[in-house]
Amino acid sequence: MAKNLHWLMAVLVLLLFVLGWMATSWPLSPTKLKLFFWHKSLGITVLGLALLRILWRLTHGRPTLPLGMPLWERYTAEASHLLLYGLLLAMPFSGWVINAAANFPLKVFGLFTLPAIVAPDKALQSLAQSIHLTLFWIFLGLLALHIGAALRHHIVLKDSVLLSMLPASRKDKT
Ligand code: HEM
Ligand code: HEM
Repeated sequence: MAKNLHWLMAVLVLLLFVLGWMATSWPLSPTKLKLFFWHKSLGITVLGLALLRILWRLTHGRPTLPLGMPLWERYTAEASHLLLYGLLLAMPFSGWVINAAANFPLKVFGLFTLPAIVAPDKALQSLAQSIHLTLFWIFLGLLALHIGAALRHHIVLKDSVLLSMLPASRKDKT
């Protein structure tokens, strides 16, 4: 469950990066609105999944790290995972603020409309836009570290950290 969620969210986040950039740079047209529609709907989906994932982790614990792993590595792993969880919440929230401050309705997949979390406000809108963009760059940097660390475990340290995340693995700890 936790592993499937991890990979589902990884795919969604990468898709959101692409959709976000495409939607922002697309000339004003029905296509641009569609790109934003999918970006926002999938972004809210990530928010829901992130909350679910955090609840899961709080109730089921986390996978054990390899024995003998240096303390600094444990702390770095723990801190970077917490930051990733933080970003998985902060990205959609800042997006939601942009949307509400710009006075757009937030229709999720056309199924339901979420309430505005702030009142319309141009200054707040541009602040939230800068935050959304800055968080994106931080996210990219952290992901590079995250993927680098996973590959280091697999290639340099030759332990089971990356393998334990693959669907076929039986080491289903969470
Ligand atoms: C947007 C993409 C991604 C996000 C947001 C993300 C987020 C996370 C988070 C929050 C954890 C910690 C799980 C926990 O202990 O609670 C985790 C674990 C892990 N991730 Fe990712 N991840 C992403 C992509 C990837 C990719 C592309 C790889 C592989 C190259 C990867 C490999 C791993 C591995 C091996 C672990 C397990 C670490 C452990 O056993 O403690 N992740 N990921
Ligand atoms: C994990 C979730 C999300 C990720 C990774 C993400 C990522 C991005 C990226 C990469 C961009 C393009 C760069 C930029 O201009 O900021 C962007 C733009 C944007 N996103 Fe998101 N986004 C997420 C969720 C959301 C949600 C839930 C909403 C709205 C409800 C939203 C609304 C917007 C808007 C309005 C823009 C255009 C900002 C502008 O014009 O400057 N995003 N997003």
